[in-house]
Amino acid sequence: MKAIPYGRQNITEEDIKAVVETLRSNYLTQGPKIAEFEEAFANYVGSKFAVAVANGTASLHLCALALGIKKGDKVITTPITFAASANCIRYCGGEVVFSDINPQTYLLDINKVRSLLESAPKGTYKGIIPVDFAGRANDLEAFRSLADEYDLWIIEDSCHSPGGSFKNSKNTTQSCGNGNYADLAIFSFHPVKHIASGEGGMITTNDESLYHKLLQLRTHGILKDNDLYTNSIELAGGLEVYPGWYMEMQNLGYNYRLTDFQAALGLSQLSRANEGIEERRYIAANYFNAFKDASFIKGQSKIIEGHAYHLYVIEVEDRLGLYNYLRSKNIFSQIHYIPCHLMPYYKQFGWKEGDFPYAENYYKHCISLPMYPTLKAEEQAYVINEINTFYIEKY
Ligand SMILES: Cc1ncc(COP(=O)(O)O)c(C=O)c1O
Repeated sequence: MKAIPYGRQNITEEDIKAVVETLRSNYLTQGPKIAEFEEAFANYVGSKFAVAVANGTASLHLCALALGIKKGDKVITTPITFAASANCIRYCGGEVVFSDINPQTYLLDINKVRSLLESAPKGTYKGIIPVDFAGRANDLEAFRSLADEYDLWIIEDSCHSPGGSFKNSKNTTQSCGNGNYADLAIFSFHPVKHIASGEGGMITTNDESLYHKLLQLRTHGILKDNDLYTNSIELAGGLEVYPGWYMEMQNLGYNYRLTDFQAALGLSQLSRANEGIEERRYIAANYFNAFKDASFIKGQSKIIEGHAYHLYVIEVEDRLGLYNYLRSKNIFSQIHYIPCHLMPYYKQFGWKEGDFPYAENYYKHCISLPMYPTLKAEEQAYVINEINTFYIEKY
């Protein structure tokens, strides 16, 4: 059997054609494909605005900047995520406060977040970053009402969940990143994600003023808008109107732009996003049924409506043994994630083993199985069979 990774991109001839067409056009960076991709993505998730950026990490950083995070600001997130979800707070000098997961959902436990908020004077915390880990959407309606009580903002890290959703209390489907509850949501287009553009990211929001801030910060903090200039017209040449070359850098921004050919690839991939999710859901159901009665399974991803299945996780005994055995069979599973609070960088702030028993227990047992739309039925059967064989031989 050829090597089976835990995730991989699916590049079609159509994708290649879209990129080549853009390469032949007049634009390499910020051209018409950026706006097209932004509009199509906003439509896909149901938000008012979308801003394409260089990658998911840049999206998080821009959100933190747009929300004005500064030295000492405390922000709550989950330890079971990719470090970037927390790092964006550190980039701005803020303080990351981790809080444990719910062992059933693997998501930030809202009750623990509530306890944290209740145990400190109002104003101590500035925001919450719930992560739709593995593709399972957070109940953002619940997070929003908690956030409103404490005057907090929410950044939804939806890197794992484009196309995912949850049902609110009125039983209405709420797509991840639709901006109805979170102030800002972010996505990544890294090759293992649902939509791949090489590197790439997107921020969605319904807040017009944040949207304009993000556009500026994405390009060095520069704006081109006669109505918003603060310098006198004399600096621009003393004319009646500002000349075409005039612009102002009013804030400290970055170059976090996406290129036009990446946007073309993202756009082409987006047109197949729904198909991809259906495939992922089918694969998830196969895993779930294969393992639901297995004695070696301590927990696994659930079959729930709206799950986008970026990952399919099982929790097992002897996870290291299974991981190595699968590698010997050319199956490259992965571990998501080593808890962030146990990264040496975060330990320097006092976080330590034992702080988050559910996250740490989850980490000891979790393993992400191959999950991508082009995973073939015989490949999945082979993965399931090898996992069963490992435990039959072991016990
Ligand atoms: C949950 C989460 N947040 C943020 C990121 C960062 O995205 P990127 O790799 O595009 O910078 C990732 C990507 O791995 C992720 O999985």
